[in-house]
Amino acid sequence: MKRNRKTGKTQDKKNQSSGNKKSANKVNRVVKGRQQWADHLTEKAKQENYPARSVYKLMEIQKKFTIIQKGSRVLDFGCAPGSWLLYAAKTAGENGRVNGIDLKSVEIELPSNATAFVGDIFDMNEELAAVVGKGYDVILSDMAPATTGRKDVDEARSIALCQAALKAASDLLETGGNFVCKIFQGGDFKHFENDFKAIFSSHSIFRPESCRKSSKEIYIIGKGRK
Ligand SMILES: C[S@@+](CC[C@H](N)C(=O)[O-])C[C@H]1O[C@@H](n2cnc3c(N)ncnc32)[C@H](O)[C@@H]1O
Repeated sequence: MKRNRKTGKTQDKKNQSSGNKKSANKVNRVVKGRQQWADHLTEKAKQENYPARSVYKLMEIQKKFTIIQKGSRVLDFGCAPGSWLLYAAKTAGENGRVNGIDLKSVEIELPSNATAFVGDIFDMNEELAAVVGKGYDVILSDMAPATTGRKDVDEARSIALCQAALKAASDLLETGGNFVCKIFQGGDFKHFENDFKAIFSSHSIFRPESCRKSSKEIYIIGKGRK
């Protein structure tokens, strides 16, 4: 094996270390690219007066699946800080109605056809259930649990939120209604998908381009409540 007189490294080691450098540079470029993409959407949301970049996910879903129509009555679970509420209210138009529920209050000003309530999907008291009512055309759930960093715990919490949203969709949607639900892939996803199939005429799994590349989230879209 040839040894470089200046560096003292063997030829093989030199190739290896330059290979390592190259792949580290590539990883850095990819991470930087992702970061710029995320920043670009955050900036775009700010300029377009949405409080969160998550609005672009719903826009992509709407473009592909047309879940909200003019005049739709929409219920949005996990609605804070309010981007989906704003976009759904705009899409449903002045004859539409959008209600949202979140553990946190929504601080932005909402249009007259949208209202946000503070509440927990696991603990919908009678008063909240009465004001929220039923007979919705669309139910959205972008709810995300407080994460612990433990994959199994986080997946289980996400599935529990999705099960609660699916139960609400089954109780509150009109026949023919649509449902969009965020879920973290893994764990009990197949089981959840089967429950979903029983309630909707068709369903699709979709990962919007605007999801952070590092995120495990996907959206399951059910059309035509049976
Ligand atoms: C990713 S954010 C939603 C962003 C929202 N779609 C938007 O565009 O502004 C997820 C939300 O889920 C809410 N959430 C989590 N657990 C909930 C629960 N048990 N009941 C209601 N909302 C919940 C959180 O408080 C958080 O605001």
